[in-house]
Amino acid sequence: MSDFNVLKAQLSDSRYALQARLGERQPKIGIILGSGLGVLAEDIENAVSVHFGDIPHMKRSTAMTHVGQFVCGNLGGKCVIAMQGRLHGYEGNTPREIAYPVWLMHELGVEVLITTNAAGAINPAFEVGDFCIMTDHINFTGGNPIVGTEPNELAMRFFSMYEAYDPALRALVKEVAREAEIPVREGVYLGLLGPSFETPAEIRAFRAWGADTVAMSVIHEVIAARHVGMRVLGISLVSNMACGVQASNPSDFEVFQVALERSDDFCHLVTETVERLAL
Ligand code: HPA
Repeated sequence: MSDFNVLKAQLSDSRYALQARLGERQPKIGIILGSGLGVLAEDIENAVSVHFGDIPHMKRSTAMTHVGQFVCGNLGGKCVIAMQGRLHGYEGNTPREIAYPVWLMHELGVEVLITTNAAGAINPAFEVGDFCIMTDHINFTGGNPIVGTEPNELAMRFFSMYEAYDPALRALVKEVAREAEIPVREGVYLGLLGPSFETPAEIRAFRAWGADTVAMSVIHEVIAARHVGMRVLGISLVSNMACGVQASNPSDFEVFQVALERSDDFCHLVTETVERLAL
């Protein structure tokens, strides 16, 4: 059996186990909640929670403050499945392992992926506490979840990453933000492995490449989602200026502090966007 054939069999096992816990719930929207942003899961009604570790073939989350569970129920009048916490490369997960829950959500019937994270701002015009809608990304992780002998078993090996971040979804979240008077930026996200923060020289180089924000997640999730044709919306919360920008020297403490302060606006942005999504 080829590697992607094995993957397909594993996904089917996982889906069976997860569906047994979800009962009648049939989510069409998947939400990945990044560092400090897991609070949104508390707004999900009629919720059922399933720890990653209780699902066959899923890796557990080891990142601090990432609960590491799926929470499925109603948000904004729709059935959603949220990941309260995610899998990162810096925890020792392969790109394929990071992509796995995205493919699993797709197997469940999820068509739209909203992925969120805390990020450092490379663009000096951005401010801590801003939300940034991802317009595009630069994969600086060194990996790709589609690498393997027979990815065609799941979907085409070669596929376009043009407009990977769905223009209609971007327009929708911007409209929600405008009406609620929540200022949002748009920009190119650069994702890397971590866990060390970047050097000032790296940040200068990334800025020259056109990156506006930087963090240690999202990339493999988005590649996996596009591989199987899911529509993607990416939202970063600027938790800090990137290393060297305005003499910043980031620490993970400020990431959580800022997320806490901005959680009301974050929950509004995502919930209202879900409510208005035509699905
Ligand atoms: N760099 C990398 N990852 C991050 C940052 C950063 O500045 N802030 C939040 N996640």
